[in-house]
Amino acid sequence: MSVLSGKNVLLGVTGGIAAYKTTYLVRLLVKAGAAVKVVMTPASRDFVTPLTLSTLSKNPVLSSFTNEEDENDTWNNHVDLGLWADYMIIAPATANTMSKMVAGNIDNFLLAVYCSAKCPVYYAPAMDLDMFKHPSTAHNFAQLASYGNKMIPAGTGELASGLSGEGRMAEPEDILSFIEKDIQSQLPLMGKTCLITAGPTYEAIDPVRFIGNHSSGKMGAALALEMANLGAQVILIMGPSHVVTDHALIDRIDVQTAQEMYDTVHTHIHKVNYAIFSAAVADYKPVHTADQKIKKKSETLTIELTKNPDILASVGAMEQRPFLVGFALETENELEYAFAKADKKNTDLLILNSMRDKGAGFGKDTNKITIIDRERSITEFETKPKSEVAKDIVNEIIKRTL
Ligand code: C5P
Repeated sequence: MSVLSGKNVLLGVTGGIAAYKTTYLVRLLVKAGAAVKVVMTPASRDFVTPLTLSTLSKNPVLSSFTNEEDENDTWNNHVDLGLWADYMIIAPATANTMSKMVAGNIDNFLLAVYCSAKCPVYYAPAMDLDMFKHPSTAHNFAQLASYGNKMIPAGTGELASGLSGEGRMAEPEDILSFIEKDIQSQLPLMGKTCLITAGPTYEAIDPVRFIGNHSSGKMGAALALEMANLGAQVILIMGPSHVVTDHALIDRIDVQTAQEMYDTVHTHIHKVNYAIFSAAVADYKPVHTADQKIKKKSETLTIELTKNPDILASVGAMEQRPFLVGFALETENELEYAFAKADKKNTDLLILNSMRDKGAGFGKDTNKITIIDRERSITEFETKPKSEVAKDIVNEIIKRTL
C-alpha cells in the first residue's frame, strides 16, 4: 500500500509543455489511493484541458477565484483548498511560477492556494536548458528550499525546443516514487520492527471441536496497520480470524493454538523493538485431543484441561526484551486487576478494556481503553473506532520510546 493511500493531494499545474504529462501523474496518484484535486494556472490550460484532469482526478479543476461561466457563480476558497491538502505538488513548475512562489506574488489562484497551504510542498521544475542554467533559477531553487519546499530534480534529455540538456520535468513515475520515498524516510517508526499477537486461539478437543473465544482480531489488525503506516516492519501473529490485512510492511503468520502462538513469538521476539500482545489467548487447553470425533455416549462429559503458556509473561521475563505492551480485559475491579497484571507480566504499557463499557469488547468496531504505564500513571480514552484507538496506543508508545 502506498504511503499516499487515503491522503489528500493537491496538484498545481503550470504553463509548460510538460503539463500534458500530469494526466499520467493524476492517474498514478489516484491509483496510489490518494484523493486528488487539481488547480491550474490560466496559461496551463493551453497545454492540457481542465476536462481531462477533472475526469481523471474525479474532482472539479479550479483555475480562478470565480467561475465566470457558472451563472450561480461562487467564490473559490483558496484557503480551504490549501488546508485540505496533506501534500501539494506543483508539476510542472515553470520558471515564472517559481519566481512568484519565491516572491509571494499571488497573481493567480494556484499561487494563492500555494501560499495558503501548510502541508509539505513538492515541485518538479520544467524549462529549457538555458532558463534552467540562469542564475535567477538557481537563486529561486535556493529560496524555495529555504521555505521548506522540496524540489523533484529535473532530468536531462530532449527538450521541447529541440535542444538537449537539463530541464526536462521528471517522469510521472519518478515524481510519485520521489514523494513516496521522501514521506517514508520521515515516518517516525521507519527502521523499527514490531511483533503483534492478535485474535483468539483454538484449542482442539477432537478433530471438529475446540475451545475458543469471541475475539475477532480487529484490534490487533488495526494496531498492525497503524504501526506499518508509521513505517514499522510488522510481524502479525494472528489466531483464527476473518480479518483481512494488506500492507507491504505487514508480514502475517496465521496460527491456531496458544502453543503455536508461543513458539512463533519466540522465533521472532529477539529481532523486534516493540511487542504488542493483543491476542485473547486461551488460558487452558485439553490435556488430550481425541483422534476421532467424540461420540455422545454418557450423560456428562469431563474434559481435563491444562494451562497454556503465558506468552506475554514469558516475554516480560526475558532479560533483553522489546518495549512490551499487554492487554487486559476485565469485568470487575478493573484497575486493581490491571495494576496486578502489569506488575506480574512486566509490561511497559497495559491497555485495559472493561466488559462493562459500552462500545468495548469482542467483535465490535469500537473500543474504550485506559492505558497504564510503568509509573502507574493512568490515561483514559473515549469510546472510539478501533483504528483511532490504535492511533492512541501507538502514540503513547512513540511518546515513551522515541
Ligand atoms: O492474564 P490475561 O489473559 O488476562 O492477560 C492478558 C494479556 O496477556 C494479553 O496481552 C494477552 O495477549 C496476554 N496473554 C498471553 N498468553 C496467554 C494469556 C494471555 O500472551 N496465555
